[in-house]
Amino acid sequence: MSKIKTNKYVKDSPSQPQPPAKTVTPAFKINLALNESPYPPSPKALEAYHETSKVLNRYPNYTSAELRLVLGEKYGLDDTKIMCAAGSEQILSYIARAYIAEGDEVIHPRYGFMVYRFNIAMQGGISVPVEHDDFIVNVDYILKAVTDKTRMVILDNPGNPTGTYVPYSDVKRLREQLPDHILLVLDAAYAEFATESDYDAGMELVDSHKNVIVTRTLSKLYGLSSLRVGWAYSTEEIINTLLHLKGGFNVSKPAQSAGAAAILDQEYADMSRDKCRAGIDYLTVELRTMGLKVTSSVCNFIMLHFPKGRDQMKAADAHLKENGILVGPLGAYNLESTLRITVGTDAENKAFIDAMKDFTGN
Ligand SMILES: Cc1ncc(COP(=O)(O)O)c(C=O)c1O
Repeated sequence: MSKIKTNKYVKDSPSQPQPPAKTVTPAFKINLALNESPYPPSPKALEAYHETSKVLNRYPNYTSAELRLVLGEKYGLDDTKIMCAAGSEQILSYIARAYIAEGDEVIHPRYGFMVYRFNIAMQGGISVPVEHDDFIVNVDYILKAVTDKTRMVILDNPGNPTGTYVPYSDVKRLREQLPDHILLVLDAAYAEFATESDYDAGMELVDSHKNVIVTRTLSKLYGLSSLRVGWAYSTEEIINTLLHLKGGFNVSKPAQSAGAAAILDQEYADMSRDKCRAGIDYLTVELRTMGLKVTSSVCNFIMLHFPKGRDQMKAADAHLKENGILVGPLGAYNLESTLRITVGTDAENKAFIDAMKDFTGN
């Protein structure tokens, strides 16, 4: 049988292997690995979700109209410039497919969301990672990395896995100083957690400048990771381009309805955010007291650095697993002595700290 020819960029790009289903790792008692919310979604979102069970035989609204309406009203945006998808990761892949071609350079933080590299590779683009200052993105390094081949800058702000953020004044300066033809993608997956007065997700940059896309998600603060709801705001021209790539009914009815209800329940979102922030403060203080280094985070996770290096990190990771706690090693970023820890519920945070006290003896 002749072999089917595969697109070489697909073949050469990093893949996510699929082990036999029977070998899937057993769930850990406490999962602090994936930057999810430790809290369930708003009860109003759950009610809306259950309500949709009556119409599961019907396709969802093709354009996520109700959800776009709610998002437009909440943020004061023109809903024709909003696009919804099954998670913001899906939108990031549309962006790559629409705007990155072979040989194009795409600048992103060295410690930026790993998926950017996959998307760039898939298009035959060239990934241009830029350094940080102590895990904080410096926009001057991005500007210095621009060449004739640069087509796009992707900035996760706040960043994953760093948990740090770039002040809005710097993001504005970045857009102003980047050549107009370079697309600036602001991935604001964790925007809802960042209450700092000098932080802004940058939605207004879409209207005041050309070539800006902001991506957002309901997977994080709104606790809807499993439903897959993400959205983007950009110019009419860019959104219309991305819509060419959107699958027909890409956002399910339960996702659209629960998403809209979650967005409307600001009180619940505020409560979840405050509890996550308190949890992050607790983890940071306790871990620093043990003599470990924690990068200050505005997100729902922290980076924890082990002063004795890779072996100490590995031993800590193993000790946590023995205690039923899963966290995120960052070897894929060459951060060999660092773990990423997502905030849990109060009880989960305490169990994690107890296991770490046991490990460090402090
Ligand atoms: C920085 C960043 N962007 C985007 C995503 C994708 O989120 P989702 O596809 O669930 O919207 C994540 C998920 O972890 C992320 O960390």
